[in-house]
Amino acid sequence: MRGRQLSVLDDDIEAVLIGAEDIRTKIGELATVIDADYADREPLLVGVLKGAAMFMSDLARALSRPSTMEFMAVSSYGSSTTSSGVVRILKDLDRDISGQHVLIVEDIIDSGLTLSWLLKNLASRNPASIEVVALLRKPDASKVEVPVKYVGFDIPNDFVVGYGLDYAERYRDLPYIGRLKPAVYATR
Ligand code: PRP
Repeated sequence: MRGRQLSVLDDDIEAVLIGAEDIRTKIGELATVIDADYADREPLLVGVLKGAAMFMSDLARALSRPSTMEFMAVSSYGSSTTSSGVVRILKDLDRDISGQHVLIVEDIIDSGLTLSWLLKNLASRNPASIEVVALLRKPDASKVEVPVKYVGFDIPNDFVVGYGLDYAERYRDLPYIGRLKPAVYATR
């Protein structure tokens, strides 16, 4: 956290799971592999708002080859902590993706249900190819059959925030991924 002022949000974090420098290093590694895999194709990065905003912008800049960007926002029905697998589109893509090499950019795969739905939805629009890059993956993701080609970190089932991930819309702006103190979500 070179040169960074401590934020008041830091007080709500029990432990840093993945530091900012480790995130940067991992994104560089993912970008190297993606650059090689897409050496003869230009990927269309499809970021899933809002959580993937930070990862999307850092990944796009880490790639040494050109890419284009689109964003989707989806909301899964169910409680705020569990996903039901029924997904509603809040913001759709702005363009036709047929014939494009789509790379879905996700911040985290938890139950895998959002991604499972998204893959089917986007595949039905006839892209030339479709793959997924996720910065984080939780253990439950293995219960759903979702092919994720690129994964940054496999993490435990903790309540994590930061680097795009929120609790009640806050903490997305932290530069690292940390475990939230249980007292924070117990009192709200
Ligand atoms: C998070 C995350 C994924 C999804 C993963 O988004 O960004 O899209 O949940 O969960 P799943 O694997 O259990 O389906 P969220 O719905 O919290 O929206 P946000 O990105 O706007 O915070």
